[in-house]
Amino acid sequence: MGSRVLRVSESEIAERVSEIAKTISLDYRGRELIVVGVLKGAFVFLADLVRKLTIPVVLDFIQVASYGASMTSSGTISLKLPISMDVKGKDVLLVEDIVDTGGTIRFLLDHILSLGAASVAVCAMIDKPERRKVEVPVRYVCLRVPEGFLVGYGLDHAERYRELPGIYELITDASGENHPE
Ligand code: PRP
Repeated sequence: MGSRVLRVSESEIAERVSEIAKTISLDYRGRELIVVGVLKGAFVFLADLVRKLTIPVVLDFIQVASYGASMTSSGTISLKLPISMDVKGKDVLLVEDIVDTGGTIRFLLDHILSLGAASVAVCAMIDKPERRKVEVPVRYVCLRVPEGFLVGYGLDHAERYRELPGIYELITDASGENHPE
């Protein structure tokens, strides 16, 4: 049987979210920041992050559709839900759950810049630099987690487990199936 193993607890996450929110608040003080959450995975992280910021922000969301498990270029990614705000001349912070190959964030950086944003930075809940295929600048990284299939705190496996308050690794059994409790 497989199982799920806690990798980052709720309190550890909260501590790091507070720290990163402090840094972002300092970096963007006196500026008008548009925070764009990348659906769906970033929704929990985004909600916690913005409530710890000490600067006023406006919020928006964006979602992409990606095709193929091993994306190597933005050619396999398209917009599923566009942003609703005008970002022209504005500072944008893209909030992602995981930056893996980098394909998604490369596509989104290029897209937001093509809309005329003055600047775009990336804040990732989890960065997996060892998996990178496309170079992308990730300015803020909240957590560093060892290799493994992660669920919880917004992350899913076949759309399940997003609601778990901590981050867990799904351990696959010999048959290749996951059996989380
Ligand atoms: C995941 C994750 C990132 C992307 C990272 O999205 O949320 O958006 O993949 O991968 P990349 O760096 O290799 O492009 P997913 O397609 O699982 O959607 P979800 O957020 O709705 O779960």
